Amino acid sequence: MKIISVVNQKGGCGKTISAVNLSAALSKKGFKTLLIDLDPQAHATFALRKESIFNITDILERIAQNESLPETALYQSVSENFYFIGSRIGLASLEHKFSQRDDRLDILSLFLKAVSADFDYCVLDCPPNLGLITLNALQASEYSLIPLNICDFSLRGVEILKDIIIMLKEFKGKTPICFYLLNQMDKRSRFALTFIQRVKEQLGSLLLSTVIRSNVHLKEAAAYGKNIFDYMPESRGAEDFAALAKEILNITSGKAWTQLFLKGEKVDNVYVIGDFNNWQKQENYKLRKVGEDIWTLNIPLEKGKYRYKFLAGDAWLTDPHNKLSEDDSFGGKNSLIIVE
Ligand SMILES: Nc1ncnc2c1ncn2[C@@H]1O[C@H](COP(=O)(O)OP(=O)(O)O)[C@@H](O)[C@H]1O
Ligand SMILES: [Mg+2]
Repeated sequence: MKIISVVNQKGGCGKTISAVNLSAALSKKGFKTLLIDLDPQAHATFALRKESIFNITDILERIAQNESLPETALYQSVSENFYFIGSRIGLASLEHKFSQRDDRLDILSLFLKAVSADFDYCVLDCPPNLGLITLNALQASEYSLIPLNICDFSLRGVEILKDIIIMLKEFKGKTPICFYLLNQMDKRSRFALTFIQRVKEQLGSLLLSTVIRSNVHLKEAAAYGKNIFDYMPESRGAEDFAALAKEILNITSGKAWTQLFLKGEKVDNVYVIGDFNNWQKQENYKLRKVGEDIWTLNIPLEKGKYRYKFLAGDAWLTDPHNKLSEDDSFGGKNSLIIVE
């Protein structure tokens, strides 16, 4: 089961709409998909008009207490291949309940491991904050989708999220691979086009090529308790989410991704140079600046062992966020990635 968290600490940027309609699109393409509403405000639960008997709060409480889960009625069926676990306000109090536990970041992961054989994809709709529930989702997921919209795109927002992800990498050794999604674009507006261009230049391959346009049918579908494919399959919204699912399928199948970071270097550019690019400085291996001094890049790698270094301005650096390294032939060290 591939797990994708939809995160952004801002409300209103399109997490719920993306989580619901991406899940629907994946299920329409024949992939068995589980959507979990992790927001105590339960917008996705409302959007699908599904009041589950069992919701994620009950499930996480049981997992935390080592109690067994019911064999049936754990998930609700929305449509063919599309399953759902709802939320309720009580989820907010779990954060407090779990806060003293050593395994507080792993409770959702434990549950998802238990159901992993039942689904191809699991999509997590996160709350608009970076609290314990979101950290559980980041910890559990292999990929994160970060919706951004034109009105409130700010480097600051992206930067805080990235900081959290770097912290998780240092603390737990594992982070999701992050991709950004532009949502609520009006491609007829010149301002929007300039904006898209600017974000593309800034984020490079971290930005998905699918853009979700503003589409009133997406809003209506949510209000009627439907996903866009059941509500208005011929709409632009359905077209965009089908394209998104295609792109996500492409990203998540086959390739192993490695996410690289460099933080705290006051330089104009950072490249990663190593075995995967024959130790040549190449533009598609240029890290992207996603904050004041945070640089990042996702690279797809086949199975194998790769040595690399960062070239930050004029300085060669080993990766400070990667403990694996190997001696180089100049008396220094190369960082090391092993893809199994
Ligand atoms: N592409 C879009 N076109 C039209 N309305 C949208 C679109 N994306 C989001 N919305 C609307 O914007 C509001 C916020 O979106 P939502 O997905 O709930 O954001 P979040 O979960 O990040 O808080 C909702 O009313 C939603 O219906
Ligand atoms: Mg939401």
